[in-house]
Amino acid sequence: MKLLKSSKLMVLAGSLALALAGCSGQSKSSTEENSGTTKEAAKDNPVTLVYSKGKDVTQGTTKMVEAFEKSHPNIKIKFREMPSDTGQQHDAYVTAFNAKSSEIDVFDLDVVWPAEFAQADYLLPLDRYIQKDNVDLNAYNQGALAASQFNGKQWTLPKFIDAGMLFYRTDLVKKDEVPKTWDDLIKQAKAKKGQGGTKFGYVMQAKQYEGLVCDAIEFVAAYGGKFIDEKNQVVVNSPETIKGLKKLVEVAKSEFVPGNVTNFTEIESDQAFIEGQTPFLRNWPYEYASANDKSKSKIPGKVAIAPLPAGDKGSAAALGGWQAGINKNTKHPKEAWEFLKFMAGAEGQKIDAIYGGHAPTIASLFDDKEVLKANPTFADKGFQAGLAAAVPRPVAANYQEISQIIQIEVSKAIAGSETVEEAVKNMETQMKAKVKA
Ligand code: GLC
Repeated sequence: MKLLKSSKLMVLAGSLALALAGCSGQSKSSTEENSGTTKEAAKDNPVTLVYSKGKDVTQGTTKMVEAFEKSHPNIKIKFREMPSDTGQQHDAYVTAFNAKSSEIDVFDLDVVWPAEFAQADYLLPLDRYIQKDNVDLNAYNQGALAASQFNGKQWTLPKFIDAGMLFYRTDLVKKDEVPKTWDDLIKQAKAKKGQGGTKFGYVMQAKQYEGLVCDAIEFVAAYGGKFIDEKNQVVVNSPETIKGLKKLVEVAKSEFVPGNVTNFTEIESDQAFIEGQTPFLRNWPYEYASANDKSKSKIPGKVAIAPLPAGDKGSAAALGGWQAGINKNTKHPKEAWEFLKFMAGAEGQKIDAIYGGHAPTIASLFDDKEVLKANPTFADKGFQAGLAAAVPRPVAANYQEISQIIQIEVSKAIAGSETVEEAVKNMETQMKAKVKA
């Protein structure tokens, strides 16, 4: 699937320099910042920022916040946990920010939100802060960076990149048994279900939510299909898309996935894997840190990563990831920027990569010894190529509407209330009404 406004975004990325000059902000004057009295006062009266994001099943966020507070005694971070389902999380922010609430200062955004949130005027533009502190935007993965820019301004900074991967148990699956194709996966999952105390053969995300869109993109792209093409044409009604979605439905309806897989998001998937219930799992890179966390996982040291199985066209991963932004109505823009800059900068990303298993958006961290020790697969050129080739979702201010169409129609196909052919026909009609070519 192609970015709906990708060409526009490219142009915008290029015109960033112009935007740098024109932004307003509310930080204190430099004289005030440099005054010793102000610094002392700040230390005694620390500012508390509310930072919100979905549940982190790893130690990444906690460790990062600890490190920030240690190096910034004038700022305390109060964590607000949001719903882990990214769609529900999105709606909670829309409600708060539409009401112009200033309660949340800094928050994480799914990679598919910045365009919409920028257009809705929820975010504080970061350009003048970036310029003042000489943040090097060239150090960032340019794909992730493109998603953080809209209408010539920088609205967020990318914290990590996600790409769908296959996780498997090394004590149950031999190297030569790792499935190369979706048909191999089906065979292996059937054969392994029940072995070593497992209850399932494969676990995926099939709830009607954003994660299902990601899983669907992977099946569809693996069979050479698309939802929307490079020219913004709706091309969902093709034999390739139909074949990919039929494979998804076959897997989701099989007896080797949990009977209630249509309630599964990443949270339930992670839980099943770390409880030792499945030999195979589709999830995002953090699963490696989660499954190796001895304090909660029953399978530490028994997990490996492979590319998702291939269809007729090859293996395909959906591109995901999270970015950090500042609420436009924050009462503490200067401190909020300090925190954001730390999280999305090399120091914060390094901590999150080590403790959270997240793939950094700052390319040089892929050469960092401590990062590689914690995540040996990051050194794998195949892993890096997989990240680079991951399939993006449309970047559009009305992305949620497109996503809803996919979620509802794919869910109906899984439930059997319509055929895959009917689902793609319905998607075609509804998407055509929403996508401006
Ligand atoms: C992950 C991805 C995000 C995606 C979500 C779907 O959090 O990083 O981009 O939308 O999963 O559940």
